[in-house]
Amino acid sequence: MEIMSRLDKFLKDAETEINNTVSLKSVQELRIKYLGRKSEIVTILKGLGGIPSDLRPKIGMRANEVKSYIDKILIRREKELSNNIFNTLGDKEKIDITEPGIKNETGHLHPISRMRMEVEDIFSSMGFTIATGPEVELDYYNFEALNIPPDHPARDMQDTIWTVEGSLLRTHTSCVQIRTMEKFKPPIRVIAPGRVFRYEETDASHEHTFYQVEGLMIDKNISVSNLIAVMKTMLKSVFRRTVKVRLRPGYFPFVEPGFELDINCLICGGTGCPVCKQSGWVELLPCGLVHPNVLKAGKVDPREYSGFAFGMGLDRLVMMRYGIDDIRLFHSGDLRFLEQF
Ligand code: PHE
Repeated sequence: MEIMSRLDKFLKDAETEINNTVSLKSVQELRIKYLGRKSEIVTILKGLGGIPSDLRPKIGMRANEVKSYIDKILIRREKELSNNIFNTLGDKEKIDITEPGIKNETGHLHPISRMRMEVEDIFSSMGFTIATGPEVELDYYNFEALNIPPDHPARDMQDTIWTVEGSLLRTHTSCVQIRTMEKFKPPIRVIAPGRVFRYEETDASHEHTFYQVEGLMIDKNISVSNLIAVMKTMLKSVFRRTVKVRLRPGYFPFVEPGFELDINCLICGGTGCPVCKQSGWVELLPCGLVHPNVLKAGKVDPREYSGFAFGMGLDRLVMMRYGIDDIRLFHSGDLRFLEQF
């Protein structure tokens, strides 16, 4: 049966050629060659009418089998090849493997988070532990226990965002001082990094939301010189050079005496620039010796113990280190800014 062996050969040829093809484009060409209008199989199927009627069903069946089998292997080969990216290119196209690839963008930590972790490491190495407190606070922890009773004028120093239930968004991390004394007995050495909020108009140096690191050290005979020593050690590690500091008197109800600690301007080196307002000094962190009333609120006996506290602006620290002149950039979400870190 000559026609049957023609079909077998046709199938074998098709199978070999399809399996050896290496590009999607040539699979398409083979589909036309083997199943197209002018293909041998279509010619055979069209000519079935001229075949004696006793042989017709057998040959017809076989021809249809061959046709659908070829269709199947074409589909399978097409799938195999499209799983491989290289084969979606034409036969003549080449890949230049020496060309630089397309980089996958990955995220990274925000400069403030990085600075927070660094500060945590520095203080840990000095024996401090890390404490946290809630961002939605009670008046008691944010003000009263910190020697700021209701109607005290110092409440106006920190414009407050109140909740409808009468709680508030903490205006500073000093609340954690009291929470820590409630939990632990002296000697105490903690820092409390965290987010704080003020009801404030924003400008280049003010934000409604910013970050502080509170510090508290309580022991017997703690004095201002302990405060200065710890601050100097910390600043030296953060800025990787010796930083000059100076103390000016400052008023905060929860410390006595209270200070503003300034550092020499790292942007101009102390000669005067817009960042330090030509003074050569930058106000960096308020601090002081813990007020006896605050120790009492934390159930610590002021006749036995003393301590220092400070409240450092993390944003300010990052700004000093990188020479950033607008605090609003931190929350802008602007990738042109963030990608620089
Ligand atoms: N809590 C004060 C503020 O945010 C800073 C401060 C902390 C001052 C500790 C003295 C001691 O303004």
